[in-house]
Amino acid sequence: MSTFFQKQDSNETLSNQRLQLQYLLENNLNQDDGTEIITGLTQESKTIPPRYFYDHQGSQLFEKICELPEYYPTRTEASILKEYGQEIAKITGKVEIVELGSGSSTKTQLLLDAYQDLDYPLYYTPIDVSGGILKESANSLLAKYPTLKITGKVATYEQALTKLSYSALSQRICLFLGSTIGNFSQEECDRFIELITSSLSVGDYFLLGVDLQKPNPILEAAYNDSQGITAAFNLNILQHLNWRFDGNFNPSLFEHQAIYNESDNQIEMYLISQRSQNVKLAALDLIIDFRKGEKILTEISRKFNLQEQSVYLTSKGLKVNATYTDSKQWFGLLLCQKI
Ligand code: AVJ
Repeated sequence: MSTFFQKQDSNETLSNQRLQLQYLLENNLNQDDGTEIITGLTQESKTIPPRYFYDHQGSQLFEKICELPEYYPTRTEASILKEYGQEIAKITGKVEIVELGSGSSTKTQLLLDAYQDLDYPLYYTPIDVSGGILKESANSLLAKYPTLKITGKVATYEQALTKLSYSALSQRICLFLGSTIGNFSQEECDRFIELITSSLSVGDYFLLGVDLQKPNPILEAAYNDSQGITAAFNLNILQHLNWRFDGNFNPSLFEHQAIYNESDNQIEMYLISQRSQNVKLAALDLIIDFRKGEKILTEISRKFNLQEQSVYLTSKGLKVNATYTDSKQWFGLLLCQKI
């Protein structure tokens, strides 16, 4: 319990006995993040890691995306959790809930409801890179669930998973919802699952949400919404880099593009330079040249086949206890266990 502290405001103590927040991110930010940006923006095909979407503004834009009529994943996954939450809670029994990329924790509430209905104790460890959102949502959860205790971490998945303290209960369920795993390349996915299996104890559960393959027009509409929120979300990554690395990206000189790559079963999001230009990231001592029409890949969002994903997880040493989907089979949940 020694490392818990409140970063933003020392007067604002954690008088609330039910909430502890741990900030792991700030320490290694400059070293780590800078190198990834330099590598990504100096290579032949330019890339920016998608976790840079999620500054405060980006996290809020993502919340708006989740409510768009075209963006089906969030509400589809929520409908599955609503339908099968009780069943999942019965399978796992009493567990501490750890969530990677918890964001607003809206869907988590469906599981908290299920555990609460069974009179199980509620321990929740949300993990997110956006501290503001994490704190806001933790406070609103505490108001809704009188027995809930929260120990949140502002951290990357790796930082958080390698620093999991003793579980408040004898077992955990680790949630990785929203098909965020779709942001990882196959190699990153392999490493991520290895991180999961090495961080969890035997008997712990892992609940994974995956967006499923479906006709191209439905997918492309979800990433090219008519209100332009996804475009704003994509462009905001440049503002985030400006702020973090003292940069001078002009977002109005870039355009959002999202296309479905059918051979790789993935949405690809790009920012396209509208003219030839130089951009400076002063804090990284970096000047980046763009040709007119040159693209930055900001995100891949892979679309899965539920059976194949189940085979994959099994091959990685996880036991798949159950899979769940919706009536249209648009989204899937896999409940796994470390054996
Ligand atoms: C949060 C990564 C699952 O890939 O659908 C939404 C992010 N990007 N619209 C996704 C996102 C554009 C989202 N994930």
